[in-house]
Amino acid sequence: MSALRAALACAVLAAAPVRAAEGPAQPIRFSHQVHATQAIIGCTACHAYAERGPVAGIPSMQRCQGCHKFVKEDPTNAKLDAELKALVKRLREPTPIEWVRVHRLPDHVYFTHQAHVRAGLRCQECHGEVQTMEVVRQVAPLTMGWCLSCHHRKQREQAGRERLTECVTCHK
Ligand code: HEC
Ligand code: HEC
Ligand code: HEC
Ligand code: HEC
Ligand code: HEC
Repeated sequence: MSALRAALACAVLAAAPVRAAEGPAQPIRFSHQVHATQAIIGCTACHAYAERGPVAGIPSMQRCQGCHKFVKEDPTNAKLDAELKALVKRLREPTPIEWVRVHRLPDHVYFTHQAHVRAGLRCQECHGEVQTMEVVRQVAPLTMGWCLSCHHRKQREQAGRERLTECVTCHK
């Protein structure tokens, strides 16, 4: 903690938020608009660990394959048909798809999905309207000030939540 405290002296907590206008290019096309809105697949059906662990998790190729061995063509839509065929071909390769990370906190910060999801926060509160995104982008700044503004608010709403603003809660 002492290193953190020293660093805090020069920390610029009000640093400009890094909000990306566009998400990073991904190795293959993956649309949340198509899956979460059109196909109505729930967020935690794919991000299976969000309710029970620190990391939400990205679905494996087996998970994609589970549906796409059936959803493998679309004769009514040439563009979609081409995308589905390219996907099926890619899923046959043994190497996993290396998705580019969109959100990443520095290593000195501890974050866990479980506490937030179990407290009833919606994914969209921190990630924006992902279900409308063709390419996922970061919407919230993910700065310490951003975390703390919500933690202070929750603290005021309910007694016994002193931990939420203690340094060690987010910096182990
Ligand atoms: C069919 C599976 C599937 C569904 C349903 C799904 N996702 Fe995803 N999600 C993915 C995949 C694959 C990636 C990695 C590729 C990418 O970033 O687009 C991803 C990436 C993300 C990311 C960015 C992760 C990072 O790298 O920081 C967020 C945030 C996210 N999803 C939230 C959601 C939310 C919220 C919902 C529900 C509205 C949802 N997802 C529904 C498969 C899914
Ligand atoms: C629960 C079932 C399900 C899962 C799991 C699933 N998909 Fe899909 N996917 C669909 C459906 C349904 C469509 C829409 C097909 C259509 O409209 O003809 C689709 C469409 C697509 C398309 C073509 C449309 C587009 O986005 O351009 C791609 C590519 C795709 N999925 C990739 C993936 C990948 C990669 C994964 C694993 C991370 C995955 N899907 C997991 C059901 C699923
Ligand atoms: C309180 C804010 C908050 C909520 C609510 C939240 N997330 Fe996140 N999410 C984050 C932060 C912060 C990160 C970056 C974590 C890191 O880099 O350690 C992240 C990262 C992710 C990632 C990429 C890394 C990983 O954990 O796999 C995915 C996928 C994701 N979130 C999906 C979801 C889904 C799905 C939901 C809802 C079930 C959700 N998140 C709810 C803040 C949140
Ligand atoms: C929109 C509100 C909101 C945002 C934004 C948010 N949190 Fe939280 N956080 C909560 C709530 C609510 C809880 C659970 C409180 C409870 O269970 O009483 C929580 C709990 C936690 C916990 C577990 C505390 C414990 O010991 O139980 C950690 C760690 C945490 N948050 C870290 C973060 C970090 C790091 C960020 C920023 C990257 C962040 N949070 C952003 C609302 C938020
Ligand atoms: C609710 C979570 C949370 C709490 C509580 C919290 N921090 Fe942070 N802190 C973060 C996050 C997220 C970052 C990384 C993003 C940033 O630099 O804004 C960070 C970054 C930092 C940094 C590095 C700043 C930089 O410029 O690199 C220092 C130092 C720091 N925190 C010290 C503290 C101290 C001291 C406390 C207690 C008074 C504290 N933090 C409480 C979430 C938290």
